[in-house]
Amino acid sequence: MSMLRAKCWPLLWLLCTYASAVVADVSCEEHDFHATQFLQMTSILNAELHSPLKPWDVHYYLGVAYHKAGTYLMIQVWQSIFHALGAKPLIDMGQWDQPCYPGTCYAPDAPIQVWIDLYSPAKAQKAREAAGERGLRVAGFVRDPVSMIVSAYCYHHRGKELWNFVENPQGIVAQMGPLEGLTFEAQRMLPVVKNMTGIFEHPANDTLRLDYERTTASSDGFDSEMVKLIGFLFEDLISAEERAEVLNATQRADLNRHPANDDDNHSNDPDCKARTREYVPAMPSDLLGQYRSFQQRLGYAPS
Ligand SMILES: *[C@@H]1O[C@H](CO)[C@@H](O)[C@H](O)[C@H]1NC(C)=O
Ligand SMILES: *[C@@H]1O[C@H](CO)[C@@H](O)[C@H](O)[C@H]1NC(C)=O
Ligand SMILES: *[C@@H]1O[C@H](CO)[C@@H](O)[C@H](O)[C@H]1NC(C)=O
Ligand SMILES: *[C@@H]1O[C@H](CO)[C@@H](O)[C@H](O)[C@H]1NC(C)=O
Repeated sequence: MSMLRAKCWPLLWLLCTYASAVVADVSCEEHDFHATQFLQMTSILNAELHSPLKPWDVHYYLGVAYHKAGTYLMIQVWQSIFHALGAKPLIDMGQWDQPCYPGTCYAPDAPIQVWIDLYSPAKAQKAREAAGERGLRVAGFVRDPVSMIVSAYCYHHRGKELWNFVENPQGIVAQMGPLEGLTFEAQRMLPVVKNMTGIFEHPANDTLRLDYERTTASSDGFDSEMVKLIGFLFEDLISAEERAEVLNATQRADLNRHPANDDDNHSNDPDCKARTREYVPAMPSDLLGQYRSFQQRLGYAPS
């Protein structure tokens, strides 16, 4: 049994006994504990009660995501990490996005958050002040800004997110050709890309920049970014064993390992991306200039 699971047992047992609760996938009937085991467990429970705080009792954790720079990936990674450490969805873990589509914003006071399309240097300043001495730990994926608009065009052009009234109002992108669609997405996504660039061009010391391209290109790349992330988030707040478990838990978000986990088909056809990319130089020059500047500030070659 893993250490994380082992730590949960006494609590499950108590819940089962006193509340006849069925917690997670473990029912009371499945586990017939003897007195000696109970004694052992109450001592573990005592240790547990006096054990160090959970990481989210120490810091606030903020995963930030930007449209077409791995939003779904970020949500999956964040949930996997904190779930593996025992955080409770909706209680310890919240989410907010902009606009706030139905069902996508909840638990704004939870210490672990995912913020989508809203984090900017100005918001960072406020969040830092609100966090006070506990401090924030912020992480997010950065992707080549031109790849983001190419991806947005291919994604919405094939009818994805008809409810998205910013990047695909009334499904309008389905009717657009590549140049028109690219230009449309580049305009619509300016605030998103601008805010991503502002946060990550020179990340503050409480903020980790993750590399979208590296994370998605191979499982080795995925693991090395996750090791970096886990080290940054927790330092010595979790054990080596927990660290290994958390890394393992993140791997379900690695589509090179688990292609079937892209359940809503976020991945675009490579042909569409290659064809659309050819139209980038033909975009209105002032708009293209802004994207070239974002690329440069983030260290990407013009593409
Ligand atoms: C970008 O940042 C500005 C300034 O904080 C904020 O008003 C805006 O809502 C943000 N937009 C997105 C899409 O991140
Ligand atoms: C970041 O730098 C500030 C000021 O130098 C310091 O007080 C703070 O502890 C640092 N935070 C982290 C997470 O290293
Ligand atoms: C790693 O995670 C998978 C589920 O994604 C689980 O089946 C497996 O038992 C885990 N391995 C370890 C060593 O924890
Ligand atoms: C996802 O969408 C792409 C682009 O339309 C398509 O090529 C691919 O077959 C789809 N994959 C699945 C699993 O539906």
